[in-house]
Amino acid sequence: MTQPTAAVRDRVLSLPPTELPAYVYDLAALRAHAATVRDALPERVELYYAAKANPEPEILTALGPFVDGYEVASGGELAHVAKAVAGRPLAFGGPGKTPDEITAALEQGVERFHVESEHELRMLAGLARRVAPGRRVAVLPRVNLPVADGSLANSSLAMGGRPTPFGMDPARAEPVIRQLADGAFPELELRGIHAHLASGLEAAEQVAVAGTVVSWATDLGVRLGEVNVGGGMHVDYGDPERRFDWAAYGTGLARLVERHPRLTLRIEPGRALTAYCGWYATEVLDVKHSHGEEFTVVRGGTHHLRTPATKGHDQPCSVLPVDAWPHPWPRPAAVGERLTLAGQLCTPKDVLARRVPAAGLRAGDRVAFALAGAYAWNISHHDFLMHPRPGFHFLDADAIV
Ligand SMILES: Cc1ncc(COP(=O)(O)O)c(C=O)c1O
Repeated sequence: MTQPTAAVRDRVLSLPPTELPAYVYDLAALRAHAATVRDALPERVELYYAAKANPEPEILTALGPFVDGYEVASGGELAHVAKAVAGRPLAFGGPGKTPDEITAALEQGVERFHVESEHELRMLAGLARRVAPGRRVAVLPRVNLPVADGSLANSSLAMGGRPTPFGMDPARAEPVIRQLADGAFPELELRGIHAHLASGLEAAEQVAVAGTVVSWATDLGVRLGEVNVGGGMHVDYGDPERRFDWAAYGTGLARLVERHPRLTLRIEPGRALTAYCGWYATEVLDVKHSHGEEFTVVRGGTHHLRTPATKGHDQPCSVLPVDAWPHPWPRPAAVGERLTLAGQLCTPKDVLARRVPAAGLRAGDRVAFALAGAYAWNISHHDFLMHPRPGFHFLDADAIV
């Protein structure tokens, strides 16, 4: 169970049932968390936010004072983020970039291109010649590096260190990097390398991965100003009070940058920045028994909050009791200790959390699902079954930082 903040709780309890489900974001909590993350990082480590985790304009804006820029991974994200936080530095990543997307990024003046393949590099050079004549476009080839010490073994989502469509195999990346350094592409400037190898890594694993990436880059003997070691900091849905150890990570990165005084390191987390600031709040519609198990059906479901279905976990939640029952018919209530919380979709996969301790839960009570601020609404299949969309509430959006 993860209790909502007081502001979130008050808002959820003040909403009529017809305005539920709702996503409620506590932007004051987000700013406080982002400040802690920023403070833990050494000066020579730049912090970019991976917008794919949650691109709501209010979230992007709230993060503004704490981040050095934003990582975008499609033409859609590029246009959206460039509008939401105009003038902020952007890094354009993502596999399978189209000529139209690259053209838009060049026109937009994107600061960094994370190049995913040799083909993409040639396309970028060709388009840069035409779209941005006279400018040297900063590139960081993305490298899919092996990590020998097992640091990726616990990853929930590995994108590197194994066969994947992401980035370049190191054997292919090396000659590309040398060509760039030798000026084979005069339109492009080799600024550094990029490697996002996995998501769901703890601080010690992240430090080890960063060390591997930096060693590989510096061993090339080519002058590189920057190394982007990606995102992927662990968020523990099973133990929601536990946080990624930013202090230990910062200390590890500080040692790394000390050893490489001319290098700027960059990280681009998504999930671990925004997961904690969002709640998906809803109302219990029904309580029922089936083959020895007790279920509640809540308004909404995984078409709004797909995270537990995608990642295979129980979404942490807490119950906000509502004593009033305005209907003339009897109020369903749980008789057992543990309930499975399902949504309104006609599929057994529409389960938000299994066997949650929620004795006495009644129809009309509210349930607030925590850790719903990242990869939640924006990765969900909203239109399945045509239920209404949730409301969106951004608490403390107008505060001056
Ligand atoms: C290239 C890249 N950078 C950063 C991220 C952010 O990862 P996370 O949200 O796990 O921190 C991702 C996630 O897929 C990614 O692909």
